[in-house]
Amino acid sequence: MGEIRVAVLGASGWMGRVHSMAFQTFPHFFGTGGGTARIVALVDRDPARGAELALRVPGARILTDWREAVADPEVDLVDICLPDNLHHPVAKAALLAGKHVFCEKPLADTAAEARELADLARQRGLVTRVGHAFPRNPVHDLAKEIITSGEIGEVTLFKGCQHVDMFGDPMAPMMWRADGRLAPTGIVGDTGSHVFSFMEFLVGRVSSLVADNLIVTPRRPVVAGSVLGAEAVGGAGEWADVTNPDATHVMCRFENGAAGIADFSRVATGRKFRQGYEVYGTRGSILYDYDEVNRLRVYSGADPVGRRGYRAIDVGPEHPNYAAFLPLPNFALGYNETKIIEAAEVVRSVVTGVPAWPTFETGHHICQIVDAVMESSRRRAWVDIV
Ligand SMILES: NC(=O)c1ccc[n+]([C@@H]2O[C@H](COP(=O)([O-])OP(=O)(O)OC[C@H]3O[C@@H](n4cnc5c(N)ncnc54)[C@H](O)[C@@H]3O)[C@@H](O)[C@H]2O)c1
Repeated sequence: MGEIRVAVLGASGWMGRVHSMAFQTFPHFFGTGGGTARIVALVDRDPARGAELALRVPGARILTDWREAVADPEVDLVDICLPDNLHHPVAKAALLAGKHVFCEKPLADTAAEARELADLARQRGLVTRVGHAFPRNPVHDLAKEIITSGEIGEVTLFKGCQHVDMFGDPMAPMMWRADGRLAPTGIVGDTGSHVFSFMEFLVGRVSSLVADNLIVTPRRPVVAGSVLGAEAVGGAGEWADVTNPDATHVMCRFENGAAGIADFSRVATGRKFRQGYEVYGTRGSILYDYDEVNRLRVYSGADPVGRRGYRAIDVGPEHPNYAAFLPLPNFALGYNETKIIEAAEVVRSVVTGVPAWPTFETGHHICQIVDAVMESSRRRAWVDIV
């Protein structure tokens, strides 16, 4: 099975468009040896998008009901780019229909749902993948390489953050992301899960945590004609309650003894997109800031006294996932390239049957962290993750 037949669900949305592009694009960079992808179905509930979708991917079936794509014997891989609350039911139906599944993050609304999906996939021998793409920028492979080699010693502290101001303006209109029925964990599953994916990738599993969730703006105006859930809503003067967290602070411990601090917010006024981490070890440290998307700052205690300080190291064509795109250093790989790397890895996994990080097992652990954050904030107490 060198050609994987893909159905993209939520095809008109942001991720639906990015995933479609990535499946169509990756062979130009990674070649065809790891398999190719053919998008055979595009699904979006909005029928008005059909004509445009058909032009984007000639020959693909254009559907409005995801169930049709899941039942289609022509589909090998179901790619879920739908709002969070649909991830579990759609992934479950796809796995039961014998499809490999690529699901956007967060894998599910609860760890119990994620566990069910990971178990189903294991029992049926199906390949899974969660869309935690940020750590797939090769700059983070470089960070992991430095950590794993022991260059910074034993990791003692991880600090991470992700801040945006999408809802910084109290008058920014309501959307599904702020509705607890459609995105039950709000910023925690939406954005926290990105920070948690870095924690998993670079440091290891989290074993306990304490967290504080905040709703900063409790009500938002509804814009006429906006779509929440299945129905169009809105009209002059209507307001909706924000029913999931806007911002969160977390303190945690990892299984390996390291400590962690993370915070994330969608109301960080002025921050258009801030993502970063600091990893401190017994012999050195690594700093990363998305504003310098391909650069690490690395401190090594092995440098001579009087010459110590942070060195800026850019990931370049020495790394295969960088070289796949660019033969020269400092041209920069951004967000969409990480999604292309991800699509290439997903297809290679389906072709070879060899899973690649992050699978539904990883997605489950990240959902356990999300659950623990929700519980800790509710109980105002530390929570163990078992
Ligand atoms: N990995 C990342 O970096 C990243 C970035 C953004 C979003 N996401 C995740 O991707 C998912 C989608 O987010 P988005 O920003 O693309 O949202 P979006 O609102 O832009 O797109 C969602 C699409 O799904 C369609 N849709 C909704 N319900 C449907 C249904 N029942 N049947 C068929 N189509 C339906 C909508 O019409 C829309 O086109 C979310 O789970 C989000 O958390 C991940």
